[in-house]
Amino acid sequence: MSDKHANVHEPGMGILVESGVISRIDDSKEITDEFVPSWKEGSGFSDGINIIDATGRAIIPGFVDSHTHLLWGGDRSDEISLRQSGMSYTDIAESGGGIGKTVSETRKLSFNELVQIGKDRVSRAIYHGTTTMEVKSGYGLSVDSELKLLEAAGKIAEISPIDIHSTWLGAHDVPKGMSKGEYVNELISEQLPLVASQGISKWTDVFCEPGWFNLEETEDIVNASKEYGLQSRVHVDEFVDSGGLSLAAELGSVSADHVAHSSDESRSAASRRGTMQTFLPGTPYVIGAVDFPPISDCIENQWAFSLASDFNPNCNSLSIPFVGSLAVHRCNIDPISALAAVTRNPSTTLGYGDSIPVGTLAIGSQANMNILISETVDMWCQTPGMNPISDTIVRGEL
Ligand code: NIG
Ligand code: FE
Repeated sequence: MSDKHANVHEPGMGILVESGVISRIDDSKEITDEFVPSWKEGSGFSDGINIIDATGRAIIPGFVDSHTHLLWGGDRSDEISLRQSGMSYTDIAESGGGIGKTVSETRKLSFNELVQIGKDRVSRAIYHGTTTMEVKSGYGLSVDSELKLLEAAGKIAEISPIDIHSTWLGAHDVPKGMSKGEYVNELISEQLPLVASQGISKWTDVFCEPGWFNLEETEDIVNASKEYGLQSRVHVDEFVDSGGLSLAAELGSVSADHVAHSSDESRSAASRRGTMQTFLPGTPYVIGAVDFPPISDCIENQWAFSLASDFNPNCNSLSIPFVGSLAVHRCNIDPISALAAVTRNPSTTLGYGDSIPVGTLAIGSQANMNILISETVDMWCQTPGMNPISDTIVRGEL
């Protein structure tokens, strides 16, 4: 899970794809002479083979967005004025906004409405180059509505061209009208067994942060999940260092996300234990935080890290190139390390280990690629507010 530089190929290379998998990377002329001898130039069909002519444009792997809250209803755009009047994320949540407000709006949506919303958002993500996505529940917070969200995510996975993986985030907040103890009990004894028996989620997530779920509750939920065969990916240390990353490393979570305030000791422990540190710089950006996460410490210490969108009603962007811009323009990360953090590194947390690799351009990898608008790879994260992707290819299909 090294975050070190990917192998950057020279210009003039071609990529051969067969059955959705990369089968050869070679000099472009050699490939075209061998497979499409009658081909002239430009995209099209020749000798029974589809050709995508990317002359003058760089090609990078499709993005792997390993942290999204894809499914929710309503609108929280009023929260920026509240923040500008001095309220914090926690103040807004406590006064009836935040996650609780989105939960009320999301519960009103039917299964079909959720599927339609999710489908539209997946299209938007693909437009920005995402070809693999993790999707969390978490805006239902009741047995029925958490299951409905995960079932909708499953339906979206079925009808989408890209790979979509679901995570159960019942422990996102405590629903109105319940004590925390009662809700943790419901999570463990009602939601979890149903989620597990229906096979609708691969991971359990917990919002482990003072004011939401504490270390003990997180540990209980994650350990109970393990008994049902579910691994964990968790929200930790977003606002303060509460020991969340240390706990995640100890519990063997595949990924610990936000990790903005984690200690160096916990980062080093996570690295040793194979818990990916996933930074979500879009969230401090929209909250107006002045301190961005210390991502460059990971490069200095060779701690593997990923970057993801954290798409949610508060951080309403599915653009991985924008996340890349935050990493390079605000966190001093070089473009190729940032690219590894949105491709190969997150793919290792999504269970591709034994199957066809995702997030790399290599022989045997799933043929998910982005053709950039530029000749240089480094441009991928340097067009903030504009899309640097000209074409996206999913399993060899444009
Ligand atoms: O990852 N922090 C917890 N969950 C989301 C935000 C949820 C919300 O504000 O609706 C996050 O930032
Ligand atoms: Fe999140």
